[in-house]
Order: sequence, then structure tokens, then C-alpha cells
Amino acid sequence: MKILLLGSGGREHAIGRALSVDPAVTELHAAPGNPGLAGIATLHAADPASPSAMVDLAGSLGVDLVVVGPEAPLVAGVADALREAGFATFGPGAAAAELEGSKAFAKEVMLAAGVPTAAARVCESLDQVEAALDEFGAPYVVKNDGLAAGKGVVVTDDRQAAVEHAESCGRVVIEDFLDGPEVSLFAICDGERAVALLPAQDYKRVGNGDEGPNTGGMGAYSPLDWADADLSDRIMAEVVAPTLAEMRRRGTPFIGLLYAGLALTSKGLRVVEFNVRFGDPETQAVLALLKTPLAGVLDAAARGRLADLDPLEWREGAAVVIVEAAEGYPGPPVTGSPIELPEDEVDAYVLQAGTRLDGDQLVSAGGRVLGVVGRGAHVTEARDNAYALLAKVNLEGGFHRDDIGVAH
Ligand code: GLY
Repeated sequence: MKILLLGSGGREHAIGRALSVDPAVTELHAAPGNPGLAGIATLHAADPASPSAMVDLAGSLGVDLVVVGPEAPLVAGVADALREAGFATFGPGAAAAELEGSKAFAKEVMLAAGVPTAAARVCESLDQVEAALDEFGAPYVVKNDGLAAGKGVVVTDDRQAAVEHAESCGRVVIEDFLDGPEVSLFAICDGERAVALLPAQDYKRVGNGDEGPNTGGMGAYSPLDWADADLSDRIMAEVVAPTLAEMRRRGTPFIGLLYAGLALTSKGLRVVEFNVRFGDPETQAVLALLKTPLAGVLDAAARGRLADLDPLEWREGAAVVIVEAAEGYPGPPVTGSPIELPEDEVDAYVLQAGTRLDGDQLVSAGGRVLGVVGRGAHVTEARDNAYALLAKVNLEGGFHRDDIGVAH
């Protein structure tokens, strides 16, 4: 199978790594990819968010499957254009991608589908913002309605900060705060059916002990040894199945990865957000445990054939990923800093996210620079393996959290 993978982050390096060890994959291409992917795929300097450029590239390569990594190309209609041109494509069309592209749309779908989520108000004026903040009280949850690269959500006790974030966004969704641990569950969907991957937990705040501002995610682990054994089944039944049915009813079936971000509250599970692509960095931990070759799974979803797929197989044990971020992140990061990487080990390896080559030298090129993955018999061992390898990484000014996988 010839595959074209779109995107350039740590998530894409993790997906590409899994595809590259799949014996069914004869050629792996990435657009634009990153230096980590360069070792396992042929890179193409093309814009993954341009529908016409991606159709041209898929055509010139003659690929069997296109896997769209990030949300921006999906919201821009890249998957629609590829499917219209006859390419099997893993990723929702623009209409279904609005589940991530608009928080207000996602709320509307959840309401129609009877999916449990926080009460919310869509606000477009300062008066509406003030009224919603009064209604729900602190802690205030203010979400940019549109895509914001993981930085659109502010959760704060500081009312002035909540108002300022709302004013900087324009249209926002303000909602009731959900207590309880957060969980990410990824469902591979073919428009009608869905298959769950292992649940994971992400650490969104920048600092140890969940201090500081939200980020795109500073680390993750999987599986969740503290969660009820039926957690996935409940999420699939209460959240994923009704959402897929509602999207089908609207004539915009969801093909691709539905990411349910949930809070396990004292009143039951509630959806915090939907995303329409693999989560980053949870994917790095989840795919480290997947034994079933990935290409066949994504291909079956893209072709509406999940019913023919055997149950997924998983490695025993756990995986942990720790993000090494650049100085300044989640504000404007310092870029261009040299990076020295250790050799991968049996149970630990480095995935690249915000990196580029400056001549022969690998340098930082974004906020989240690397993801260091460790595997082990349990989360503690996986974490130890990841932190031991991370200790051998050199990134000037780089930093990471020390408590990934410790507390939930
Ligand atoms: N880990 C959060 C996200 O992928 O949006």
C-alpha cells in the first residue's frame, strides 16, 4: 500500500512510525513532514491545507490511501477534495470537521444527539460574555469558537482574564466548569461504525502540578490503570455512537478519527471537546502500544469497511510520552536552538515535532519540539524509561514537566 501522510508534527511522526513498520506499506510519503519523518518517508514540500495541491500530489504519487494528520487541512476541505478525486482518505470532510472547527457547532450536535456535555452559551458581545460568566461562576471556562492550535481555551478564576480572552477571540463559547479527571478516547470511524483505541490522559497545563497556562499538551500516558474497565465501552455507547448517528442523519458522515475529550465528573462522564484528528501528544503513547498494523485499520475506515476488521490487538503494559518544549512556550517560542538526540532504545525513543534542519544541524522550529516515548510493564516503568532517555536529550533552553504519568 502506498500512503501519503499530511502534516508535520509529533503526531504525524508517531503515525508515520507506526505505518513505516507495517509490512503492508510499500511506500510512505509525507507532506510536508519533518526531519524525524525524513528517516522513514519521502518528504514533499507542499501545503497540506491546499486541497488542489494535495489532489495533485496524491495523483502524481498514485497513492492508495491519504491520511490527514492535523485539523486545519480537514477544516479547509482537503479530505473532501481527495475523496472527490477518487482517493481513499482517512479524515472527515469539512462539514464533519466542524466538530472541531466550531465549538458552537459541536455543542449543537451534542445537544441533538443527547451526548452529555457541559451547559454552554455562545457569546458574541461583551454583554453576553458578562452574563454567561455570571451564570456559571468561577472557575470560568472560555473557549474560542474557532481553531486556535490548542490555545483557544482559558480556564481561570480571574474574571478579568476571562473577559480579556473572550474579547481577544470574538465569538466564544462560555461553559460550566467540569470537575473530575480528564480522559481522551480516540475512535476510528468509517462513517457508520467506530473502533476505540486505548484511553489516554493528556497534561494540558505547562507546569508541574498543573500550574500555568494551557498548552497543546505537555505529555500523556496510556492506558489508564485507575479507570473502570468499562470506560471505553461507555464512551463509545454514550458519546461516539450517537454522534456518528447524528452526523449521518445530517448527511455529513464522520470518516476519520473522532477524539472525545471527556471529564469524569461526579455526575457522570461529560464531553469537554471533540477534535477530528489524532490528539497530540496522546497519539504518541497510544500508538506505542498498538500491535495491529495501523495501515489496514486506517484504510478500512477510509473505505467504510470497519465491519471487516478483526479486533485491535495491544501490547501488554503502558506507554508515556513527555514533551520537550522550547523556551517561551506556550508564548512565542525561541527557535533555531541546536538539538542533540540520543540513539533510540528498545523501550524508549524520540519523536520530532517542532524541528527543522539547518544544514546538517537539527534545530528547534516550534513550541513543542520533541516527544520522548517510553514503554514499560506499567506506567511507572514506562515513565522511568522515557525520563531516562529524555535526560540524554540536549536542547538549549528546553524544558518539560517532571510529573507526567504521576498524578491524574
Ligand atoms: N492533546 C490535545 C489535542 O490534541 O488537542
